[in-house]
Formats: sequence, C-alpha cells, structure tokens
Amino acid sequence: MALLSVLTPVLVVVLCMVVGFMLLKPRETVTPTTEKTKERTKQDFRPWVDQDLQDDTEIPGKQDDDGEWVDSHEDEDLLHVPYSPKRYPEETMLDRSQDFYNLMNQRRSVRFISPEPVPREVIDNVIRTAGTAPSGAHTEPWTFVVVSDPETKHQIRLIVEEEEEVNYRQRMGDKWVHDLAKLRTNWIKEYLDVAPYLVLIFKQTYGILPNNKKRTHYYNEISVSISCGILLAALQNVGLVTVTSTPLNCGPQLRVLLKRPTNEKLLMLLPVGYPASDATVPDLKRKPLDEIMVDI
Ligand SMILES: Cc1cc2nc3c(=O)[nH]c(=O)nc-3n(C[C@H](O)[C@H](O)[C@H](O)COP(=O)(O)O)c2cc1C
Repeated sequence: MALLSVLTPVLVVVLCMVVGFMLLKPRETVTPTTEKTKERTKQDFRPWVDQDLQDDTEIPGKQDDDGEWVDSHEDEDLLHVPYSPKRYPEETMLDRSQDFYNLMNQRRSVRFISPEPVPREVIDNVIRTAGTAPSGAHTEPWTFVVVSDPETKHQIRLIVEEEEEVNYRQRMGDKWVHDLAKLRTNWIKEYLDVAPYLVLIFKQTYGILPNNKKRTHYYNEISVSISCGILLAALQNVGLVTVTSTPLNCGPQLRVLLKRPTNEKLLMLLPVGYPASDATVPDLKRKPLDEIMVDI
C-alpha cells in the first residue's frame, strides 16, 4: 500500500507526459503523406508558369526602396482626336482577310536560321510595329533588346544551353520532355550564335519615371504578349523567321548580362533571320475553324 502511494504521483506524471506528447504531435504524422499526395504535388509543379518569370536576382535596389508610386494624372486633359481609318469594300475585305490568313498560315517556328545578314532598318520597322500593340492604360510596358554583337550572342547561348540542359534533364519532367520529342528540340541552340539578330523581349513589371517614381503597369504580361504576337506577324510579313522561345530559368542571368533594370523580366527570346537553305520543320497540322470557334 505504501509502495502504491509512492508510485501514484509517478504514474500520474508519466500519464500526463504521454497525453501531452500525443496532443503536441505534428499533424502530418497523424495523416501520413501518401504516394498519391506526393504525385499531386509533383503535377502541381508548373515551372513554365511559376518559375519562368521569376527573377531571383531582385536585390532591392535604390529604385525599389525609394521609388514612390505615382498616380498618373498628367494625361487627364488628353486631347481626343477624330479617327477614321480606311474602310474597304466588302469584297476587298474578304480578299485581304484571305490573303492575311494565307500569309500567317505559312508561319512556322524555324530552328535552323541562316547567318545571312538582314537589313537593320527592317528589324527597326518590325520592332516599331510590335510597339503599336495595345497595352493596359497605354503603359507600353515592353523593352525589345536587339542583339547583333557576336560575343553577346555567344554569352546568351552559353547561359541558355547550360540552363536548358538542366531543364531537359531535371526540371521539365518526363511528360514534358516526351511531349517535345516529336519537335526534336533539345538544349543545343546553335541558332543563338548563327541568327543575325536575337530579340529579347522584356516585360516591365512597373514603370520608372524620370523623377524616379514608379508607375503601375496594368496587365503588363498580356500587353507584352500581344506585342510579341504582332512582332511575329511583322516578321512573317517580311519573309523572316524565328522560333518563339521562353528559356526557362534564364531570365535573371540574361537580364543581368544585358544590363536591364530589375523591373524588367524576360518574356521571350526570338532569334531572327532568313531560314537556312536546308531548314526543316515538323509537319504539324492546325485545328480547323470549327474546333477553335464557337458560334452563339
Ligand atoms: C509560349 C511559347 C513558348 C515556346 N517555347 C519554345 C521553346 O522554348 N523552344 C522551341 O523550340 N520552341 C518553342 N515554342 C514553339 C512551339 O514549339 C511551336 O510554336 C509549336 O510547336 C507550333 O509550331 P509552329 O510555331 O511552327 O506553328 C514555343 C511557343 C510558344 C507559343
């Protein structure tokens, strides 16, 4: 009896410790991580969306710390002028719509580009055309970096190939690599040295005014994407080719190489030139109208 009365407080303490331990135990050990959960996490990982446009080199600089945001009031008295663009007879409209479709339907992503020089004025006009795109609140949040210097092109190639090899081997996953197999793409990008021009398109995530204040760039990614589409059409119009590329994880390094400010993020890299005489493209088919259009 005496022994029991000595042991009782000890038993109570032990019991309290066991109950306390059970209550404090982390939840995930109560709900074990199943293979299915792991699989879902892997599928949810979408590097082309989540990581492509991230820029880890964003060390808060002077402009980030000090730059106050500004409300754009300077345009409040903006003059509105008459607008009456050329109007075509219906028959001409039909012809033009058919001709433009035929032209654009010839566009292909070409990965074999000739080193033959291209007149610089043509590139200037193509970029001017891209700059006619609509943009959120007319913020024009784009920067087109045109690279023709062979050494810079080579530096770009080194960065892209190094990252792309990791992308193909590790980041992209089997499914993505498998989906790309039919296009016969890999991390070797000879066109980055060969093409007479590389056009790197940056989206400005916000604007920086001359007085160092920041300006909101609404819908900057959509705006810049539209301007890239117009740029592709303008290239097609003059018989030049490119391949739309979005080199995964290369943005920060390329931004630093090209000395672009931290508010700019790489959206696309377009090698531009004439197609190589022996260029080939995958024999892809496009969806017919009834698969892409819904009439209501
Ligand atoms: C957003 C986007 C990213 C792309 N990225 C690449 C790329 O990194 N490398 C590449 O070789 N092609 C890339 N492409 C080109 C596509 O593979 C190509 O557009 C598609 O296969 C259809 O071929 P087409 O452009 O000849 O019609 C990309 C296209 C888009 C729209």
